[in-house]
Amino acid sequence: MCTLAPAAFGNDEPADANARAGATAALLKAARDVLGYGTQNEHPAVGAYHAAQASDPEFNFHVGFLIDSLDYLEERFQALQALEASDPRFAGRLKFLVNRALPGNPEIDARMDASPVYRGVTRHTYGRNGVQAFCETDLIVDGPLGEGLVLEFDYVFPGYKDHIMSVSEITR
Ligand SMILES: [Fe+2]
Repeated sequence: MCTLAPAAFGNDEPADANARAGATAALLKAARDVLGYGTQNEHPAVGAYHAAQASDPEFNFHVGFLIDSLDYLEERFQALQALEASDPRFAGRLKFLVNRALPGNPEIDARMDASPVYRGVTRHTYGRNGVQAFCETDLIVDGPLGEGLVLEFDYVFPGYKDHIMSVSEITR
């Protein structure tokens, strides 16, 4: 559960901040109860929401970071994957999805084929000349059902006017 530090509200006592966090938890629980969340009688809107989220990690609110080194992005992303695979505290709490650069640039295509993260990936970015890597985690509570947050890590290949931050090939 995330809550703002007491200083953000002036001279609140820590107990006030805890009460606010409790109010959020109570609201999420009430919403889940009404929806039958996780039960056999779950409202169909929950499944539809999960399907949309699974097909597009950018479907809902998410937090993105633009990384200036693809090597560093790959190294850190693999470190997160290794953490999930090897540390029981993170097992099942980090989900990964990546979007490879759109094909058509021989230099970038070759870099993708050589990448330990993007090699063989068939999902692609909406824009050109960049890549995306997503990590969804319930270590940070967010979203309408209080499930988790998607962290997005992006890299843009330098020297291109058209890239994932400037033009989507879907809306061009
Ligand atoms: Fe995004």
